[in-house]
Amino acid sequence: MIITEKYSQLAPEVKSILSRLVEEEFGHVAFVQERVWAQPDWVLIQYDNEEIATFCHIVVREVSMDGTTYTVAGLNNVITPKTHRGKGYASEVVREAGKFALQELKCSYGLLLCADALLPFYNRLGWYSVEGGELYYSQPSGEQRYDSNSMLLPLTGQPNFHPIHINLNGLPW
Ligand SMILES: CC(C)(COP(=O)(O)OP(=O)(O)OC[C@H]1O[C@@H](n2cnc3c(N)ncnc32)[C@H](O)[C@@H]1OP(=O)(O)O)[C@@H](O)C(=O)NCCC(=O)NCCS
Repeated sequence: MIITEKYSQLAPEVKSILSRLVEEEFGHVAFVQERVWAQPDWVLIQYDNEEIATFCHIVVREVSMDGTTYTVAGLNNVITPKTHRGKGYASEVVREAGKFALQELKCSYGLLLCADALLPFYNRLGWYSVEGGELYYSQPSGEQRYDSNSMLLPLTGQPNFHPIHINLNGLPW
């Protein structure tokens, strides 16, 4: 069962479990620790026998791509605790996040930033890598350029759109 909830309305005990899982996965990653990240707006949680089997966060943002502003669902912290991996849960949650982003959030695209290893995983779920573009995001010190992969999921927007210039217009996710 997947539940979708506003992050701000999550029960404190659930929020603290999610924060602990994020810390376990990314707490040691320098790139993550050295930056300020956006607060999620939404969270999708897959339960298995009342245990959190997978979750992901969504940040809703007006993102500029080649001079046009699009409502985008920014996906991050897709995490399956180790005991639940390899059962298709993350795939289900990412698919569901796409449906929710289209139907409820009225987003044109999903957008995520991702390491090389996970490109095939997201590719299989309909996401594609933006080729040849540059992506910028805000930090307290000013604007920064992201130099790894950005991926888009076309929801209502053009499917083969490879913007040259993306600005997240805020903190990254
Ligand atoms: C990536 C992750 C969410 C997948 O969760 P899952 O519920 O096991 O995913 P699914 O069962 O739907 O799909 C599993 C597939 O994901 C792919 N995959 C998972 N981790 C991977 C990795 N580190 N590198 C490459 N591919 C990976 C594999 O293709 C795998 O298929 P396999 O089980 O046949 O090997 C989980 O491994 C995880 O939490 N990893 C740590 C956090 C992370 O990196 N999150 C993604 C970035 S935000």
